[in-house]
Amino acid sequence: MRDLIVLDTSAVMTCDPSLGEGRLGLIERGAVYVREGVVAWVGPERDLPQADGAVRLSAEGGLVTPGLVDAHAHPIFGGDRAAEFALRAEGKTYLDIARNGGGIMSTVRATRGAIDEDLVERTHERLSRALAQGTTTLEAKTGYALSVYGELRLLQLLAQVARATPLTIVPTLLGAHAVPAERNGDRALFVAECAGPMLEGARGLAHAVDVYCDEGAFTLEEARTILTAAKTSGFAVRAHAGQFRDLGAAGLVAELDGLSADHLEQVSDEQAHLMAQHGTVATLLPGACVQLRLTPPPVARLRDAGCMMALGTDMNPGSSMTESLPLQMWLAMTHLGMTVDEAWLGVTRHAARAAGRPEAGRIAPSAPADLVGWRTPDPAHVPYHYGENHVRGVIVAGTQVVSR
Ligand code: NIG
Ligand code: FE
Repeated sequence: MRDLIVLDTSAVMTCDPSLGEGRLGLIERGAVYVREGVVAWVGPERDLPQADGAVRLSAEGGLVTPGLVDAHAHPIFGGDRAAEFALRAEGKTYLDIARNGGGIMSTVRATRGAIDEDLVERTHERLSRALAQGTTTLEAKTGYALSVYGELRLLQLLAQVARATPLTIVPTLLGAHAVPAERNGDRALFVAECAGPMLEGARGLAHAVDVYCDEGAFTLEEARTILTAAKTSGFAVRAHAGQFRDLGAAGLVAELDGLSADHLEQVSDEQAHLMAQHGTVATLLPGACVQLRLTPPPVARLRDAGCMMALGTDMNPGSSMTESLPLQMWLAMTHLGMTVDEAWLGVTRHAARAAGRPEAGRIAPSAPADLVGWRTPDPAHVPYHYGENHVRGVIVAGTQVVSR
């Protein structure tokens, strides 16, 4: 691997306020020196250290940022649910569709019926589209098999995909995504499986464990059982919390010192403070929020409480069929009331915390050299001009993997 110098930038966004201007740590006309896949130095180009033998790569006057981090995604699934999207446009609700056999269970049927090669290939395609739009780290949940065997199969397939993609995948076990129809009669036993054998099998395959705690999904007590067991077994914990109703899951995750509570359209002031206190990130999913026509999450409340806020695509076939983080930034600013700085931190530093890979999401000495070069000099321009891919190039661990 050759050493690399990235130069001719409008600015380098370090996302580290100790390294540059403002909350985004911007270094005007900055440069980055990469050695052995890791950032060795970042600063103004005029102070660039001697770096004999390094390849020089011009950013052509554009902005350079950390590789984007998707803090919440469900990239491995069979089939699609375009028909449900059409029904919702006619006025049916997400919860109604789910109660009538659609929703998560329809993707579970398609995923259980898909052969390994097909799941791997489709997932790989989704990750390639994410990479082309600047994502270099992605939190990836299982959750469309809902049996011990099936969920572990999805974790194994995710590991296979992870070996073949330049992205860094942080795998999450989401066995408690829904109670599968055939287990409605022995719900308690299913929860016990999620808190027992599933965790046993996921050792070494999953980084974190997630529970969907909401109306129509798992109760707070069930979430507590599963997440407490997960924490005891050494997993990081997180939850889908308050998408439809605030059952208290965000506070639970905070008390367990979890990574992140996600969705949060409904979250109390008290829980927001608990999250801030424990460093649990508030991960917001604007695509799913807008698409399901939910009231936006209380960004001002989260901000005032001092929560770190991250963004995720929620990439899934039901409520958010997208791989694009820049699109989430646009929605976060237009629909949720986030600022430019918050939107950028939400797909970089804070998202890296939420995903459980805190060393990513910044450009600082000894951070992984995951970088994006943009076709614009201006941070606001990326979310402002939406629906267009502004990525010029992507570098992962010091190697250029996208050039457009
Ligand atoms: O995060 N809320 C739960 N899970 C997904 C939706 C999954 C689906 O509808 O297939 C979400 O929005
Ligand atoms: Fe989700």
